[in-house]
Amino acid sequence: MKLGIFDSGLGGLVIAKSIREKMPDIDILYFGDTLHLPYGNKSSETIYAYSKRAIEFLFEQDCNLIITACNTVSASALRRLQQEYLPSSPYAHRRILGVVVPTLECAIDKGYKRLGVIATNYTVKSNIFEDELKKIDPEIKIFQENTPLLVPLIENKGMPWIDPILAHYLNAFDDKNIECLILGCTHYPYLKDKIASLIGADVDIISQDEIIPDKLSDYLHRHPEIADKITNKGQIEFLISDMTDGYKHAAKAIYKSDIALECTRFCATSNTYIREAS
Ligand code: DGL
Repeated sequence: MKLGIFDSGLGGLVIAKSIREKMPDIDILYFGDTLHLPYGNKSSETIYAYSKRAIEFLFEQDCNLIITACNTVSASALRRLQQEYLPSSPYAHRRILGVVVPTLECAIDKGYKRLGVIATNYTVKSNIFEDELKKIDPEIKIFQENTPLLVPLIENKGMPWIDPILAHYLNAFDDKNIECLILGCTHYPYLKDKIASLIGADVDIISQDEIIPDKLSDYLHRHPEIADKITNKGQIEFLISDMTDGYKHAAKAIYKSDIALECTRFCATSNTYIREAS
C-alpha cells in the first residue's frame, strides 16, 4: 500500500517533495485536483464533495494513509471525512491526516506568543487556526490575513506580478508585532524566500514543508499498524485531474526538473476519477 498526498493543486507537491527527502523509500501517490482548483474560494459543501471524491479515489488506488496537504481541506472537510465518511466507508481501518494542528504545535513548541497567519479565504473565514489554538493555549494571540490572489498567481505563471501583491498583504502585520508568520496554505512555501525578505528577519517563517515530514515520521512510529502496510520501494507517482502549462511550469520549478505527471479523467456520470492507464 502507499502513502497518499492530496491537495487541490501544487501545494501538496512541495509537501510531497519534502516528505520524499526525509523518507526516500516510502511509496507515495500524489493527487492534485487541478480541475477544481482553487478550493480556497469555494463553499464548505463544495470543498467537502471535492475532497471526499479525491480521498475515495486515493483509497481505491491502494493508499493506506492520506495526508490532506491542503489547509483549506483541513479546515473545512477533514473532521467530517474522519468522523462521518471514514467509519461507514469500506476503508474504515485506513487513516486521513491534516496539516493545521501540527503547524500550530510547531509554532507553540518554539515558544511564540504572537502568531501571524496568511491563508486562503476559506481557511481564514473558518477560523480553524484560532479555534485549534484556543484548545491548546488560549493566551497566545493570533492575527490572520486572507491572501486569495496568491494561489491563482502561483498556478498560472503569475510570478511577475506577485511582489506588490505580497507586499500589500503583508502590510497588515506591520503594527501587530508578530514573532512568526505561519504560511497557512501549502502553496505558499513556494513563495517562502520572497515572504521572508518582505516580512523581515525578526519574523520566523513557519512553513509546512519543514514541519510535515517530521510529524509524519513521528505518526508512523506511533502507528505501526498503519506504517507496516506501506511499502518501501522508493516509488512516487503524480496524478492530477487537469493538465495545464502553468501547472507543468510550476511543478518543474518546485522539483528543479521535469516530473512525470499523469492526468486522470473525471467521469461525471460515475462521479469518479479514472486512470486511463489502469
Ligand atoms: N493549497 C491549498 C491550501 O493549503 C489551497 C489552494 C486552493 O485554494 O485550492 O489551503
